[in-house]
Amino acid sequence: MEFEALKESCLTCQKCGLCETRKNVVFGEGIPTAEVMFIGEGPGQNEDEQGRPFVGRSGQLLDQYLQAIHLSREKNIFITNIVKCRPPENRDPLPAEWDACIPYLREQFRIIRPKIIVCLGRIAAQRLIRPDFSVMKEHGQWELKNGTWFTATLHPAALLRNPRSKPLAFEDYISIRTKIEEVCTRTYL
Ligand code: URA
Ligand code: SF4
Repeated sequence: MEFEALKESCLTCQKCGLCETRKNVVFGEGIPTAEVMFIGEGPGQNEDEQGRPFVGRSGQLLDQYLQAIHLSREKNIFITNIVKCRPPENRDPLPAEWDACIPYLREQFRIIRPKIIVCLGRIAAQRLIRPDFSVMKEHGQWELKNGTWFTATLHPAALLRNPRSKPLAFEDYISIRTKIEEVCTRTYL
């Protein structure tokens, strides 16, 4: 199947320098026909070691928020990152690395055709919504682009550093639930 072929080529990719330091490519995981996609920045150490997105402490927190609104990677969403290999020392991905990797995300969008895209944190929001997007000021707002609804919420790693922002993030997830009820047909079956 097309999605499996994309994954196969991604797992052996050497299109940018991150291939030299990664342990595993993190293609993403979840349901290939999901109506809702969550996009993070890039794999961290745990993700690099396991080849799976959001499996460290911030991933556990993300899974709690998802569970609260009846979403999970096993059931009804797809989770991935804007770059598929871990940048060394968790630095931000370089523009050249983003440029090399974005075709994989575009192909994932093309095949999955999500109705809703949720950006986790500033890097994903600025790449996918607007270069000057302010996550603190604009999280939880919705924008319709080419038939797909986009929003952004605080990155779960930021919530671990600043737990006082957790109620703000929770409101974003409630708003995601409401949008799913409005525009999705299979997610909450
Ligand atoms: N942070 C991210 O942005 N992505 C992951 O997969 C894990 C942590
Ligand atoms: Fe390929 Fe993306 Fe990994 Fe670079 S980050 S090697 S483009 S999969």
